[in-house]
Amino acid sequence: MSAVGIVAAAGSGLRLGADRPKALVPLAGRPLVAWSVQTLLDGGVDEVLVAVPTADHDAFAAVLPGGVRLVEGGVTRTASVRAALARVSGEATALLVHDAARPLTPPAVVTRVLDALRSGAPAVVPVLPVVDTTVVVDEAGTVTDAVPRAPLRRVQTPQGFARRVLVEAYDALPGGAELTDDAAVVRAVGIPVRTVAGDERAAKVTVPHDLALAELLVAR
Ligand code: C5P
Repeated sequence: MSAVGIVAAAGSGLRLGADRPKALVPLAGRPLVAWSVQTLLDGGVDEVLVAVPTADHDAFAAVLPGGVRLVEGGVTRTASVRAALARVSGEATALLVHDAARPLTPPAVVTRVLDALRSGAPAVVPVLPVVDTTVVVDEAGTVTDAVPRAPLRRVQTPQGFARRVLVEAYDALPGGAELTDDAAVVRAVGIPVRTVAGDERAAKVTVPHDLALAELLVAR
C-alpha cells in the first residue's frame, strides 16, 4: 500500500484572532502545518500534499520540509480537499486527509488508520466517545430533548480512504457542496466508514483557548 497524506491548510485564522492563515500560526515556535505534516510522515505516510491559501504559497513553502508538495486551496475545506485530490500522484493506493489545525495528533493515530486500510476497510475515521450529557435546544435555548450518548462519537482526522473510494465520492459530490469532513462525502455514496481510537491530543485548534492548551501540552 502506498499512502499519500492530504493536509487541509487553506483556512483563515479568523476564529483564532490570528494575523495570518491559521496553519501558519506558531505552536512552540513552529507553524501548526509543520507539526501536522510531520505527524503524517512519522505515522507512515509516504508523501504529503498541502492545500494552502493562494496568496501564502511562499510562506508555506518556507516552513515545510523539501518534498512536500503545495496545492492552491479553495474557499471551503471541501473545495481545498477536492483541489488536492486532483494532484495526487499515480501510484498512491490510500489517501489520508488531515486538518492542519490538529498539530499534536500522535503518529500512532495515523498508524491505526493506515492499519485499518491495510486490513481492507474502504474508509476509516479516528473517534472519541462523548462524555458530557448531550441535549437538543430550541431557538430560545430551552432544552427540548436529551440524546443518548452511548452510541455518539466525536470524529477527528486523519481520515483514511482507499484512493478510488475517495476520488469517486468527490466526483459524485455536487460542485458547490460543503461538508465538514471527508467521511461524510464517502457516506453520501453509501460507503461504510470504520472507526479506530482517536486521541484527545488530536483536538482541533479553533479558538485561542485551544492554542493555549496545545502550548501547555508541548511544554509538559
Ligand atoms: O475551519 P476549520 O478549523 O474547521 O478547518 C479545518 C481545516 O480545514 C483547517 O486545517 C483549515 O486550514 C482547512 N481549510 C481549508 N480550506 C478552507 C477552509 C479550511 O483547507 N477553505
